[in-house]
This record gives sequence, C-alpha cells and structure tokens, in this order.
Amino acid sequence: MADANTDGRPETVTDRADGGTAPGGTAPDGAALKEAGLRLEVAGAVATVTLDRPERRNAMTFATWRGLAAIGRSLPADVRVVVLRGAGPSFSAGIDLGMFSGEGGGGGFTDGSDAAGTDRFIAELQEGYTWLRRPEIVTVAAVHGHAIGAGFQLALACDIRVVADDARFCMKEPALGLVPDLTGTKPLVEIVGIGRALELCLTARTVHAEEAARIGLAEISVPRDGLDGAVQDLVTALLAVNPGAAVATKRLLWGAPGNSLDEQCAAERREQIGRLREVFGR
Ligand code: ACO
Repeated sequence: MADANTDGRPETVTDRADGGTAPGGTAPDGAALKEAGLRLEVAGAVATVTLDRPERRNAMTFATWRGLAAIGRSLPADVRVVVLRGAGPSFSAGIDLGMFSGEGGGGGFTDGSDAAGTDRFIAELQEGYTWLRRPEIVTVAAVHGHAIGAGFQLALACDIRVVADDARFCMKEPALGLVPDLTGTKPLVEIVGIGRALELCLTARTVHAEEAARIGLAEISVPRDGLDGAVQDLVTALLAVNPGAAVATKRLLWGAPGNSLDEQCAAERREQIGRLREVFGR
C-alpha cells in the first residue's frame, strides 16, 4: 500500500486525522471491526476490506454485515477503489451457521413472524452490500477458495470480480430452505441470465473458477499465486482514469439495464454535459 504513517503502519480509517469520520458516518473502531471479523486498511485512494475470521473460513455474522455497512458509510471521500478479500483459505463460507442456533454471535435469528420488523432487519443487513454500488467508488472482489451463500453475494455486490483458479462459488441458501437475500439475485440474473441463475440457485451446485470465468462471474481469472498481483494491476489501471469520468461512467453503466434506449441516450447526454463543463469549462 502506498501511503503509510510516519511509524510505517498502513493508514487505517481509525488512524485518520479527522478521527476516521467522513460525511455520513463514524468509522467503526478496532473493537467493532474485530467483532465484525473485518480488517480495514485505507491507503490514499484505495481501501482494502479483509474478511478476517480464517479459522471460521470468514463466516459472516450480523456484526459483519453491520460492520460492512459502517465502513461504507464512513469511507473517506478520497477513496476511489475498494478491494474486498478474504484471509486464509477462503473468501467466505457465507453466513456463520452457528447463528441459526444462536451461537454465532450478533443476536438471535428472527423467525419472520413480525413481517415488518423482519423486513427492516434484513434491509439493515443489506446495507452492508448496497454501498458497494456507489458511483464514487469502484469495488473489486478478490475471490479465492470458497465463496458460499452470503460470501458469493458479497462478490456479486462488487463491480468487478478477480478470481483465483481455486475459487468455488455456491448459492447455498435454497438448500437451507432460504432465499438469497443479501442483494445477490439481481446481479446474478444480470450476469448469467435467468436460466443459469435458476439452475445455480435451485441446485446449489458449486461453480469452479474456470466455469465462473466462462459464464461471466469473473472478469479476471488468474492462478492462485497471481491473485494479489492481478488485483494490484487492476487497481493501478482504475486509478489512472480521470476520477470524474470514472464516477459518471459507473453511474451510466449501472443505470443502463433499467433504462430504455431513449432514457439511456438522455443519460449519456446529461453525463457528458457535466464532463464537458468540467474538462473544458472556464
Ligand atoms: N459457519 C460457521 N463455521 C464455519 C462455516 C460457517 N459457514 N464454514 C466453516 N466453518 C468452520 C468449520 O466448522 C470449521 O470449524 P472447526 O475447525 O471448529 O471444526 C472451520 O470453519 C474450518 O472448516 P472446514 O469445514 O474444516 O474447512 P474446509 O476447508 O474443509 O471446508 C467449507 C470449507 C467448504 C467452506 C466448509 O467449511 C463448509 O461447507 N462450510 C459451510 C458452508 C455453508 O453452508 N454456508 C452457509 C451458506 S448460506 C448463507 O450464507 C446465507
């Protein structure tokens, strides 16, 4: 990482002179990150979020999703790229199965009898994922080993997936009697199409790296020992692009699937007017 403090440590949000706060939220402190099973490093324009419970294959709890949401709310304004990665042998084994029996930490599991309360509860957890689509940042999932259930959905919530050749994706929720509800169904359908999405979810089968690359789940596929280097190269390339153009283009591209051709043409004109004013305006 490029920037470091005078003592040589990478700069983290909690190290920042402004106390780690940015418009919209207070950065989670070290204790909150630890409880969430997360690590956060911010080095200039790049934030790296590491799922950091390798002894549990980075299984995620409610605290993890709340921690991700808090990171999203408090990200310094000058961060342009966010990398999500997993410590140890896997990206993430999904939800901490102990939570179903109340052993996984972060409070008990809802039985859904209070529909409105459950709706609010899940919406709060989904906030851990939705910020990854903000146009101000480009998000990169660096996936190795297993990406199961909530872990697969986290990779799907990112803009770009860089995948090691040992990666294995599995949408396990239907096999457990549940649906994927951490924002993954929309990007999955948009990436692989409805038929393939149905087949993957309703069989809960494992997709290996080679197939993931073939069906569009991975933009970049590399040998396991090349993952960090490939992510670094991608980040360097992303940062080389004009920041304002990157924000406007991400907004444009993510808006495209929901727009008619006329609406998208209008959106292109609108964004370009903004760019022209910034690039050529006096
Ligand atoms: N929740 C809690 N603990 C987990 C989880 C999990 N999701 N996944 C792994 N662990 C724990 C194991 O219990 C084990 O603990 P132990 O050392 O105390 O026995 C440790 O992590 C290592 O797991 P292993 O199974 O020994 O590791 P291995 O590399 O052989 O297998 C794998 C990894 C394939 C991920 C396997 O652990 C697994 O299938 N986990 C469950 C995956 C799952 O069903 N997730 C839920 C998806 S649905 C959703 O996310 C909403």
